[in-house]
Amino acid sequence: MTGTTYLRDARVVRWGPAEFVARVREAMSIYAEAMGYPSTVVDNRAGYATAHAGRRGFRAVAALGPDDVLLGFGYGYSSEPGQWWHDQVAKAVDLGVAEQWLCGGLELCELHVRPARQGAGLGRLVLTTLLEDAPHPAVLLSTPEGDTRAWRLYRSLGFLDLARNHLFPGDSRPFAVLGARLPLEQPDDA
Ligand SMILES: CC(C)(COP(=O)(O)OP(=O)(O)OC[C@H]1O[C@@H](n2cnc3c(N)ncnc32)[C@H](O)[C@@H]1OP(=O)(O)O)[C@@H](O)C(=O)NCCC(=O)NCCS
Repeated sequence: MTGTTYLRDARVVRWGPAEFVARVREAMSIYAEAMGYPSTVVDNRAGYATAHAGRRGFRAVAALGPDDVLLGFGYGYSSEPGQWWHDQVAKAVDLGVAEQWLCGGLELCELHVRPARQGAGLGRLVLTTLLEDAPHPAVLLSTPEGDTRAWRLYRSLGFLDLARNHLFPGDSRPFAVLGARLPLEQPDDA
């Protein structure tokens, strides 16, 4: 694993599964805050995320501020048949897309930055650190449709459309499924 990267008062570090699980409730509090969900989702989501930490190919990155306060995080794991998201996306995309992108890809499951710290480059640094040296041929994610900061970030890193306006069960919002080949092309401002 590579070392720490600094961005102003924050440092961005890789987390192993145990470090991630130790701070999973804090991470899921940021998830709820960033997504505008009630804090009642935190425990449930923490349970899922803890299970995800045991999945093959799990990778996590944290942005930590002074006194180690958690400012943002991202994590993902190898996307495999039998996983809920993988199977939903396999149905949402064309067969050729599924064959070329889905198997062996890294699912970016969560990427969130505390609202007060958004728009200052932390999310980008968390994501690029997470993808650096990933052994996967591609990274995949789903994000709500709309003109959002997340979209601008993914587009600036070269993510392509794999499916648009997909409805996942239990969520009325349309989502896009995006993907990028790894390693990422050198960004313009690198
Ligand atoms: C999405 C999220 C993780 C991004 O983290 P962030 O720290 O806010 O984002 P960053 O500052 O690193 O990068 C995004 C911004 O940088 C800009 N940017 C990034 N790379 C750039 C580049 N090479 N050139 C120009 N602009 C660039 C983006 O356009 C965007 O700026 P803007 O919104 O001010 O126009 C964060 O905003 C967040 O938590 N949002 C709410 C939750 C969410 O949507 N999570 C993702 C769910 S899929």
